[in-house]
Amino acid sequence: MNFAVFASGHGSNLQAIIDALKKKKIKTRLALVVCDRKDARALQRAAKAKIPSVLIDPQSFPNRELFDREAVKHLEAARIDFIVLAGFMRILSPYFIKAYEGKILNIHPSLLPAFKGAHAIRDAFAHAVKVTGVTVHFVTEELDHGPIILQESLAVSSQDTLASLEKKIHGLEHKLYPKAIDLFARGRLSFAGRKVVIR
Ligand code: GRF
Repeated sequence: MNFAVFASGHGSNLQAIIDALKKKKIKTRLALVVCDRKDARALQRAAKAKIPSVLIDPQSFPNRELFDREAVKHLEAARIDFIVLAGFMRILSPYFIKAYEGKILNIHPSLLPAFKGAHAIRDAFAHAVKVTGVTVHFVTEELDHGPIILQESLAVSSQDTLASLEKKIHGLEHKLYPKAIDLFARGRLSFAGRKVVIR
């Protein structure tokens, strides 16, 4: 199977995926990195690992769907079977989600359904939760709502600052995402309604 990673920024999850591929913890092929920001560190990481990448500039497309149609062209050319969103800061159109239904994974830095949205770590910290965590889920049209693949919690201590919590969350993400990708690539995930069953 071939997969693509979509990233917009720092790309630490992309790096964790690249490292896991090298260690054969993910036994499938990362064939393309799709990025929407030319200054994204994710692009440099892809280049260093010799993974083909494409930059799609949102400003060149009048609407979301036309951007997504361009992305699909690249995915088809690279024969991509499934998609891994890793810090991709754009909402995908219904057109794109239908085209790859059940084949788009996302990672979110909270225990969903708590703290949806773009500032989950900050929001959880501000809420002074005692426990938070990371969720890997399938992407559906409703934001941060799709069926949950893996979730892991971590404790927030009274010593934690926002920065230390971010560090812990990212560490957990880098462990959990490669695991979920490998499960999907091996065909070990199936649906029972909203429930994801791991075989
Ligand atoms: C991660 O915290 C991920 O959960 C969220 O965006 C962040 C991306 O970080 N969706 P990076 O670009 O992978 O370092």
